[in-house]
Amino acid sequence: MAYLTILTEGDETLRKKCRPIDEITPRILTLLDDMAETMHKANGVGLAGPQVGVLRRIVVVQTEPDGPLYEMINPKIIEFSGSQLDYEGCLSIPGKVGVVDRPDKVTVEATDRNGVQYRVTAEGFLARAFCHELDHLDGILYTDKAKRMMTQDELEHEEDD
Ligand code: NI
Repeated sequence: MAYLTILTEGDETLRKKCRPIDEITPRILTLLDDMAETMHKANGVGLAGPQVGVLRRIVVVQTEPDGPLYEMINPKIIEFSGSQLDYEGCLSIPGKVGVVDRPDKVTVEATDRNGVQYRVTAEGFLARAFCHELDHLDGILYTDKAKRMMTQDELEHEEDD
Protein backbone atom coordinates (compact mmCIF):
# COMPACT_ATOMS: atom_id res chain seq x y z
CA MET A 1 0.00 0.00 0.00
CA ALA A 2 1.10 3.51 -0.60
CA TYR A 3 0.25 6.92 0.68
CA LEU A 4 -0.86 9.10 -2.23
CA THR A 5 -0.39 12.84 -2.62
CA ILE A 6 -3.62 14.76 -2.16
CA LEU A 7 -4.04 17.56 -4.69
CA THR A 8 -5.26 20.89 -3.36
CA GLU A 9 -7.59 23.62 -4.62
CA GLY A 10 -6.14 25.42 -7.62
CA ASP A 11 -4.99 22.18 -9.26
CA GLU A 12 -6.87 21.85 -12.57
CA THR A 13 -7.30 18.09 -12.08
CA LEU A 14 -9.90 18.76 -9.37
CA ARG A 15 -12.06 20.55 -11.94
CA LYS A 16 -12.22 17.80 -14.55
CA LYS A 17 -15.04 15.35 -15.17
CA CYS A 18 -14.04 11.74 -14.51
CA ARG A 19 -14.53 8.80 -16.87
CA PRO A 20 -16.24 5.59 -15.76
CA ILE A 21 -14.21 2.48 -14.95
CA ASP A 22 -15.01 -0.28 -17.48
CA GLU A 23 -12.92 -3.02 -15.95
CA ILE A 24 -11.79 -3.71 -12.40
CA THR A 25 -8.10 -4.42 -12.92
CA PRO A 26 -5.47 -5.17 -10.23
CA ARG A 27 -4.47 -1.52 -10.62
CA ILE A 28 -7.97 -0.41 -9.57
CA LEU A 29 -7.84 -2.70 -6.52
CA THR A 30 -4.48 -1.24 -5.51
CA LEU A 31 -5.90 2.23 -6.03
CA LEU A 32 -8.82 1.45 -3.68
CA ASP A 33 -6.36 0.24 -1.01
CA ASP A 34 -4.12 3.27 -1.44
CA MET A 35 -7.04 5.70 -1.39
CA ALA A 36 -8.36 4.20 1.88
CA GLU A 37 -4.91 4.35 3.45
CA THR A 38 -4.45 7.94 2.31
CA MET A 39 -7.87 8.97 3.62
CA HIS A 40 -7.22 7.36 7.02
CA LYS A 41 -3.78 8.90 7.35
CA ALA A 42 -5.17 12.34 6.52
CA ASN A 43 -8.04 11.88 9.03
CA GLY A 44 -10.59 12.33 6.27
CA VAL A 45 -13.99 10.70 5.87
CA GLY A 46 -13.91 10.44 2.08
CA LEU A 47 -11.61 10.65 -0.90
CA ALA A 48 -12.32 10.74 -4.64
CA GLY A 49 -10.15 9.80 -7.64
CA PRO A 50 -9.37 13.33 -8.84
CA GLN A 51 -8.02 14.25 -5.40
CA VAL A 52 -5.18 11.80 -5.97
CA GLY A 53 -4.78 12.68 -9.65
CA VAL A 54 -6.91 9.84 -11.06
CA LEU A 55 -9.70 11.02 -13.37
CA ARG A 56 -11.85 7.94 -12.87
CA ARG A 57 -15.21 7.49 -11.16
CA ILE A 58 -13.98 5.99 -7.90
CA VAL A 59 -14.42 7.04 -4.27
CA VAL A 60 -13.87 5.74 -0.76
CA VAL A 61 -15.94 6.87 2.22
CA GLN A 62 -15.68 5.99 5.91
CA THR A 63 -17.34 8.36 8.33
CA GLU A 64 -16.74 6.39 11.54
CA PRO A 65 -13.48 4.67 12.59
CA ASP A 66 -15.33 1.43 13.41
CA GLY A 67 -17.94 1.83 10.71
CA PRO A 68 -17.98 0.36 7.21
CA LEU A 69 -15.55 1.43 4.53
CA TYR A 70 -17.53 2.11 1.35
CA GLU A 71 -15.56 1.45 -1.81
CA MET A 72 -17.50 2.81 -4.76
CA ILE A 73 -16.77 2.31 -8.42
CA ASN A 74 -18.96 4.27 -10.86
CA PRO A 75 -21.26 5.50 -8.06
CA LYS A 76 -24.53 7.24 -8.87
CA ILE A 77 -27.17 8.89 -6.71
CA ILE A 78 -30.40 7.20 -7.74
CA GLU A 79 -32.70 8.72 -5.11
CA PHE A 80 -32.54 11.67 -2.75
CA SER A 81 -34.89 13.49 -0.42
CA GLY A 82 -35.04 16.16 2.25
CA SER A 83 -32.36 18.70 2.99
CA GLN A 84 -29.80 19.44 5.68
CA LEU A 85 -27.65 22.50 6.23
CA ASP A 86 -24.35 21.86 7.97
CA TYR A 87 -20.59 22.35 7.91
CA GLU A 88 -18.29 20.39 5.66
CA GLY A 89 -14.65 20.36 4.76
CA CYS A 90 -12.43 18.71 2.18
CA LEU A 91 -8.92 17.24 2.27
CA SER A 92 -8.19 19.23 -0.90
CA ILE A 93 -9.12 22.52 0.81
CA PRO A 94 -7.19 22.34 4.08
CA GLY A 95 -8.04 24.61 7.00
CA LYS A 96 -11.43 25.70 5.68
CA VAL A 97 -15.04 24.76 6.24
CA GLY A 98 -18.30 25.85 4.65
CA VAL A 99 -22.01 25.58 5.24
CA VAL A 100 -23.56 23.48 2.48
CA ASP A 101 -27.12 22.44 1.76
CA ARG A 102 -27.35 18.71 0.94
CA PRO A 103 -30.13 16.15 0.69
CA ASP A 104 -30.84 14.54 4.06
CA LYS A 105 -31.21 11.09 2.56
CA VAL A 106 -29.64 9.55 -0.53
CA THR A 107 -29.48 6.16 -2.15
CA VAL A 108 -26.29 5.47 -4.05
CA GLU A 109 -25.77 2.67 -6.53
CA ALA A 110 -22.17 1.58 -7.06
CA THR A 111 -19.96 -1.37 -7.96
CA ASP A 112 -17.71 -2.91 -5.33
CA ARG A 113 -14.18 -4.31 -5.75
CA ASN A 114 -15.58 -7.71 -6.77
CA GLY A 115 -17.60 -6.20 -9.59
CA VAL A 116 -20.86 -6.61 -7.69
CA GLN A 117 -23.37 -3.80 -7.97
CA TYR A 118 -24.91 -2.69 -4.67
CA ARG A 119 -27.11 0.05 -3.24
CA VAL A 120 -26.70 1.90 0.01
CA THR A 121 -29.18 4.31 1.56
CA ALA A 122 -27.70 6.87 3.92
CA GLU A 123 -28.97 9.72 6.05
CA GLY A 124 -27.37 12.70 7.76
CA PHE A 125 -23.59 12.94 7.76
CA LEU A 126 -23.03 9.81 5.66
CA ALA A 127 -25.46 11.11 3.02
CA ARG A 128 -23.51 14.39 3.05
CA ALA A 129 -20.22 12.54 2.60
CA PHE A 130 -21.57 10.57 -0.38
CA CYS A 131 -22.86 13.76 -2.05
CA HIS A 132 -19.56 15.58 -1.46
CA GLU A 133 -17.43 12.74 -2.87
CA LEU A 134 -19.66 12.13 -5.88
CA ASP A 135 -19.48 15.85 -6.72
CA HIS A 136 -15.68 15.49 -6.96
CA LEU A 137 -16.19 13.08 -9.89
CA ASP A 138 -17.78 15.92 -11.86
CA GLY A 139 -15.18 18.52 -10.94
CA ILE A 140 -17.43 20.15 -8.34
CA LEU A 141 -16.00 21.35 -5.03
CA TYR A 142 -18.14 22.12 -1.98
CA THR A 143 -16.93 25.73 -2.13
CA ASP A 144 -19.07 26.06 -5.31
CA LYS A 145 -22.18 25.36 -3.22
CA ALA A 146 -21.27 26.79 0.19
CA LYS A 147 -23.56 29.47 1.56
CA ARG A 148 -20.81 30.63 3.92
CA MET A 149 -17.07 29.87 4.19
CA MET A 150 -14.79 30.22 7.18
CA THR A 151 -11.47 28.94 8.44
CA GLN A 152 -11.29 25.98 10.81
CA ASP A 153 -9.99 28.41 13.48
CA GLU A 154 -12.98 30.72 13.07
CA LEU A 155 -15.36 27.76 13.41
CA GLU A 156 -13.67 26.60 16.62
CA HIS A 157 -13.92 30.08 18.13
CA GLU A 158 -17.55 30.32 17.12
CA GLU A 159 -18.28 27.02 18.86
CA ASP A 160 -16.58 28.31 22.04
CA ASP A 161 -18.92 31.32 22.25
NI1 NI B 1 -13.56 16.76 -0.87
